[in-house]
Amino acid sequence: MVQRETWATRTGFILAAVGSAVGLGNIWRFPFIAADGGGAAFLVVYLLFVAFIGFPAILVEFVVGRRTERNPVGALLELGGDVWKYVGGLFIVTGFVILSYYSVIAGWFIRYFLEGLRGSYVGRLAAYGEAGAMFGEVSTGLDALVLHTLFMAVTIGVVALGIRRGIEFATKAMVPSIVLLLVGLAVWASTLPNAGAGYEYYLSPDFGVILENWQELLPAAAGQAFFTLSLGMGVMITYASYLGEDRNLTRDAATIIGFDTGIAILTGLVVFPVITSAGIEPAAPGPNVIFISMTEAFANVTGGHLLGLVFFGTVVIAALSSAISLLEVVTAYVIDEKGVERWKAAIGMGGVVYLLGVPVTYDLVFLSLLDGFADGILLVFGALVLMLLVGWITPKFAVEELSKGIGDLGSIGQAWIWAIRVPIIIVLVVSLYLGVVEYVEFLTGDFTAWIEANL
Ligand code: TRP
Repeated sequence: MVQRETWATRTGFILAAVGSAVGLGNIWRFPFIAADGGGAAFLVVYLLFVAFIGFPAILVEFVVGRRTERNPVGALLELGGDVWKYVGGLFIVTGFVILSYYSVIAGWFIRYFLEGLRGSYVGRLAAYGEAGAMFGEVSTGLDALVLHTLFMAVTIGVVALGIRRGIEFATKAMVPSIVLLLVGLAVWASTLPNAGAGYEYYLSPDFGVILENWQELLPAAAGQAFFTLSLGMGVMITYASYLGEDRNLTRDAATIIGFDTGIAILTGLVVFPVITSAGIEPAAPGPNVIFISMTEAFANVTGGHLLGLVFFGTVVIAALSSAISLLEVVTAYVIDEKGVERWKAAIGMGGVVYLLGVPVTYDLVFLSLLDGFADGILLVFGALVLMLLVGWITPKFAVEELSKGIGDLGSIGQAWIWAIRVPIIIVLVVSLYLGVVEYVEFLTGDFTAWIEANL
């Protein structure tokens, strides 16, 4: 048997995991989901979810991966037995679905970068009329398709070349530059007229609103938390499978979550003041909000042209390191379980993903179709199933594995297992139920209406 690859450097694992977590989920998805969920009301529920469910959940994936040293499908098979391979199969489907539209959105960021190469953002806005019209023109159509093609080709290329050479380099430059940029932009945004209204919406929670809307907030927060932390489909299982036994997994988990959550919060601190000062209603801006607010920002700050190029370029790199993680899971499965060569596996799986994403470049209704399914249902279901496995079927090994690299866990190990066994599982079941209800509503409502209007 060949020796399984391990991370080339000690920080390689952290870099790759942060690289996977930080991506379009933080920069593109977080602001519009937060806006949609009432701003601060969403933020509170989301942060609670990350701390009390995201943190235990990432540890679950870590111990499963490090223990089995397998891809998610093989890992579940080893731990749970035969039926579990279907769950592993579900992870693969989730990876396909998420990456398909993820790539189209990454293509939009490439487009905004290219627009910056053509001229200043002031000039580009003027050429398209205004920020909303600009987004409308670049988000669908042939141009979007070409950039989706480009992004998938690069992702496939990196994964085909293999994990060591492919993954570790990108994150090193990406995380510090994105943090610096966002901090700078947030400071600038605070000086805008009417910034206060943005902060008010984003940061001042009304607990009455939370109680009234918990049925929408809970599944939205669950989906966003798992999406942004790359949980619920085996990415963290896969990455931890390349890991030595001497690492303190809780410390690594806290680092990853800290970076990821920090970047999302910072993005909100830029987006909300910018949109209220541009006179946009923050309540339901939709998936274009990051593009609109950022082009407004780069058209109006000194040095905005250069900053814009750096911002959009950095987000493309962030998206790439996340996309790599998604394709890596799917590819590792085919390599490990079917014995296919890496490059063939990467091209084959990536090709299917690519085709699935094509309709999104035709109409954004397909974005809702795919994102709602992956986020509201598949990821929550995937996380739930892992919790059931580790909480009820193999708790002993899980505690044992977690303690490696830490030392005796004392009662913390048991607390972790019991948190998983009852409260977390209940919250996930409720979130999943609500997510399904909402998705069915979308299918029978907006989506049916779209079909009737277009076919
Ligand atoms: N976490 C990434 C982001 O926020 C997206 C992502 C990468 C992901 N791998 C994943 C989401 C696995 C869910 C599951 O952009």
